[in-house]
Amino acid sequence: MNKQFEFDIADLAKPLTFPVEAYLSKEYAQAESERLWPKVWQMAGRVEEIPEVGSYITYDILDQSFLIVRVAPDQIKAFYNVCPHRGRQLVNTTDTVNRACGKRQRFVCGFHGWTFDLEGKNVYVLDPQDWKGALNEERTALTPVKVDTWGGWIFINMDPDCVSLREFLEPAAKVLDPFEFEKMRFKWRQWVIYPANWKTSLEAFMEPYHVAGTHSQLLKYGDYYAYSKAYGIHGVSGFDVRDPALRTRASTSNTRAGGLGTDPRISTYELAHENYETVNHSTTTETLVNAAKRLVDELPEGTPPDEVIKHWLARAKADDAARGVIWPTITPEQMTEAGLAWHLFPNVSILQGVTFALCYRTRPYGDDPNKCIFEAYAIERYPEGKEPKTEWVYAEPTAEKWGPVLAQDFSNMAYVQRGMKSRGFRGPLPNPHQERKVTNFHRVLSRYMGAGALSLLK
Ligand code: FES
Ligand SMILES: [Fe+2]
Repeated sequence: MNKQFEFDIADLAKPLTFPVEAYLSKEYAQAESERLWPKVWQMAGRVEEIPEVGSYITYDILDQSFLIVRVAPDQIKAFYNVCPHRGRQLVNTTDTVNRACGKRQRFVCGFHGWTFDLEGKNVYVLDPQDWKGALNEERTALTPVKVDTWGGWIFINMDPDCVSLREFLEPAAKVLDPFEFEKMRFKWRQWVIYPANWKTSLEAFMEPYHVAGTHSQLLKYGDYYAYSKAYGIHGVSGFDVRDPALRTRASTSNTRAGGLGTDPRISTYELAHENYETVNHSTTTETLVNAAKRLVDELPEGTPPDEVIKHWLARAKADDAARGVIWPTITPEQMTEAGLAWHLFPNVSILQGVTFALCYRTRPYGDDPNKCIFEAYAIERYPEGKEPKTEWVYAEPTAEKWGPVLAQDFSNMAYVQRGMKSRGFRGPLPNPHQERKVTNFHRVLSRYMGAGALSLLK
């Protein structure tokens, strides 16, 4: 990893704070457009969105727009979405309709008709002789931008001197590779322009410390005590036990959450069912819920919790295999290390399971620090050819559109944004054990921004 980001991991265990300007200041937001966004790999879309040669999507960040095109069955290219003639966008995007997709063999500019092939090369200029030979290939081609893929996601980077995508994502990529996200496909995808900073919004999904206060209905299934730690510029959280003396690697496995009830056969099903119904069908799968439902019939009363979980996962794996969904091989050690949910710097959160993931991406909305483009989507493994057809749906932040759990999160985020403006707010006090993803985020951010450094709470 880039030397600039070598930190002392132990530092995050200390009680820390950082200034609120990162969330509130217009100047800070403007500085992000210079110091952050042009320097980082950004998740721009999924490979599945451009399945055929000529398929394209746009990706916008602030006032920069990109065109991402499949130029060959095994090759993707990305360009700044601008015509080199007089600067018209090639594909229209706006602040409110910030995405476009389609399929073309040529991109024709709507203004004077200059035309480009999929490789970004100009193939038509009206009256080129008028330039008296000054229009060379370079001047008339689209401007390329770095693009690469990992886990079925497409990333772009505006910095021509950037580290490779792989290097940027490490060591998170290595821990998450076994989940084979590239084999998952969209289940649903929704977005909304939400009244909170992109960081305020993303951080609402970075730690299970808020479960007791925000999603108290879930407490009957577990206590949701969490660990949280940095992996370079990225971070992870997962289930933990409150008593440090009882903490072992095994105790932090995310398959441990089998429910708190007296009969683990029933509580495992109740938790799976609750998750499925209230988190918009995304933090588990139908296969897992159905296999959990059968536990009372398949196992005798008194089966110990570990055996219930083992049986449940084995049955679900077999059920999936029977319908053509093969589970990836993930060792118990890999599962434990992968924890429950990741922050990929700067603006992505992934809550993963063996055959599914719930993902969030937030982006600034213009130069208004009080708004963001908030997106959430679920991906899942499907039998080949059985993937649902989905598209991005604009959805107001209500329980009806997003399910009750996300609505509970939405019910905080805007008020965190408002609350932090209070003259009476002394600055964030993130939990030194459970919210290190948040402090690590601001630690890394401060290196890019040259502002907002963490300080010790004394
Ligand atoms: S601006 Fe595109 S052809 Fe003139
Ligand atoms: Fe939440």
